[in-house]
Amino acid sequence: MKAKIDSSIADKFTNNLSVWYTLNHRELPWRASKDPYKIWLSEIILQQTRVAQGTSYYQNFVEHYPTIYDFERAPLDDILKLWQGLGYYSRARNMHKCAHQIVEYEHGQFPQNYARLIQLIGIGKYTAAAIASICFDQPVPAIDGNAFRVYARYFGIYEDISLGKTFKIFFEQGQAIMPRDNPGDFNQAVMELGARICLPKKPLCEDCPVHTSCFAKSKKEQHTLPIKTKKIKVKDRYMDYVVLKHKDSLLVHKREGKDIWQGLYDFLLFETDILSKNRIFELLKELGLKEVQNVNSSQEYKHLLSHQKLHIHFHLVEIKEWQNFEVICQKYELEALHISKLEGLAVPKPIETFLASEFSIFN
Ligand code: ADE
Repeated sequence: MKAKIDSSIADKFTNNLSVWYTLNHRELPWRASKDPYKIWLSEIILQQTRVAQGTSYYQNFVEHYPTIYDFERAPLDDILKLWQGLGYYSRARNMHKCAHQIVEYEHGQFPQNYARLIQLIGIGKYTAAAIASICFDQPVPAIDGNAFRVYARYFGIYEDISLGKTFKIFFEQGQAIMPRDNPGDFNQAVMELGARICLPKKPLCEDCPVHTSCFAKSKKEQHTLPIKTKKIKVKDRYMDYVVLKHKDSLLVHKREGKDIWQGLYDFLLFETDILSKNRIFELLKELGLKEVQNVNSSQEYKHLLSHQKLHIHFHLVEIKEWQNFEVICQKYELEALHISKLEGLAVPKPIETFLASEFSIFN
């Protein structure tokens, strides 16, 4: 069911929201700029995290790479290192590819319209709309989770947002009500309302600038809308890391292939079920490591990704004498690295936490 929208309801939304945004918006570092490179950086970071955490990432990136040329020239390992902690590392890899496309084929200039922006690697409909509206004044609605929630509630849109075809309905709704002047501010006002007032669980309706004309408020449907039927299936995954340590070095592995954490560093990994101490000793024997000083197993580290729940144990193994060093390194693609060098590597969050607690680094 889609509520009938009369133009006065739409006008109230646009006008009241605009006044509220003018008076209440936060001064965020990227808002001082219309440089598409900076808006691109900020919008992609903010797809991963909230403003409170994302701001320091944004500032770090801008400081290290003030222009798209600096970003493009940087080694991917350095980009991944700055991205560390944000998760979903394919975003960072795609940003690097996108920067190559812009420098190589666009003379270092972001395309100035939605249709061309969307063709770049890693730039989806939301990011293209944000850049096109904020930097180039194109009236294209930026539909993210916030916008789905705000529009569904305010206009009473009951379409299921987990279905791909629903996007068009919200996009057209946004297009119909967007002002032609300052469309970038309008998009950011919707994001801001969703992030600060029209909250998923406990919306602050009394503070909302559009609550007097909001469909969900009048029908007490705030907790029904938006409709989202499909829940993401989360798979459990059990990971045992055998962390081989000799003197002050650890054996690390650079992850390749299609799995999570591509391009990041981890350790020798066994993935079946939770390993017992006995099984670890057996594995070490199979590796030809008989002279093992000590095996220290951690408690479980839980780590939630969008589609996976990781159950991780670390087994720190002190090796007295290296036997089969070359063979082990070659077979498992490991390299010995002094502990003092680990901080320079991009590592997944649970590995950072483990290293921080075990060796007092990354603090
Ligand atoms: N979330 C996503 N984009 C944003 C922006 N430009 N300002 C504030 N919050 C956001």
